[in-house]
Amino acid sequence: MARYRRIGVFDSGIGGLTVVQHVLSCTTGVDVVYLGDTARVPYGSRSPETIRRYARELTRFLLAYGVEMLVVACNTVSAVALEAVREEAAGVPLLDVLEPTIDLVLECTAGCVGIIGTRATIASGAYERLLRQRAPASLRIFSQPCPLFVPLVEEGWSEHPVAEQIAQEYLSPLREAGVDTLVLGCTHYPLLVPVLRRVMPECRFVESGEAIARCLRQLGDSGAGGTPPRLTVLLTDAPGPALEQVMKRLGLLPREVRQVSVSNHD
Ligand code: DGL
Repeated sequence: MARYRRIGVFDSGIGGLTVVQHVLSCTTGVDVVYLGDTARVPYGSRSPETIRRYARELTRFLLAYGVEMLVVACNTVSAVALEAVREEAAGVPLLDVLEPTIDLVLECTAGCVGIIGTRATIASGAYERLLRQRAPASLRIFSQPCPLFVPLVEEGWSEHPVAEQIAQEYLSPLREAGVDTLVLGCTHYPLLVPVLRRVMPECRFVESGEAIARCLRQLGDSGAGGTPPRLTVLLTDAPGPALEQVMKRLGLLPREVRQVSVSNHD
């Protein structure tokens, strides 16, 4: 079984730290390098071409940084730019969030699944396609883009009353449809769970980090030794208003937070 000394996790902004929290919970002896493209977030409202270009740049940067395994935490990149990442990664082992999330959903649902994500993720139809391929024909699926959720989180407003108002607006149709399992198809959304829970109290939420952690556990040996993992956080812009709050909430204590440039790594 492969032993990875350095795992790279990337996302468009700070949302991917929700995935990092799960990666740290199931690895030992590794350097986890998180790269958040905070200078260009959100990706979810951009064209597939632009998302692919950004994803290639992040991948090249992390490979130059010496990562031995890549976790594509970003649902938007996983949904629309995975082939581009695979090409750039040139054989470096890679985990994306789609398949592992679908595995979890299929184990949980009683027959009615909701998928929420960025506009690009929902427009790609990637989650829905995978579910249709693997689920019984009777499965009912409802998709809903939630473009305002990401800026709320990046602004540190995940518990603000306005977040609940917006969640009501986006999620009411899913609640009324009887959705029993909701795919939080964006790394930012787990930070909104207290608010989402108030709107859909009975629903099972499935998040990307949970799915990735299960994959890493199934790999059987994601760490190189028994020492706790070390976290480095690299951002493409100066830390924004929510970073401290999000790291505190997730219990993350990086040894370093640094601003980097991801261009010029061709
Ligand atoms: N966090 C990203 C995802 O998981 C998207 C946020 C964005 O729009 O950049 O899809």
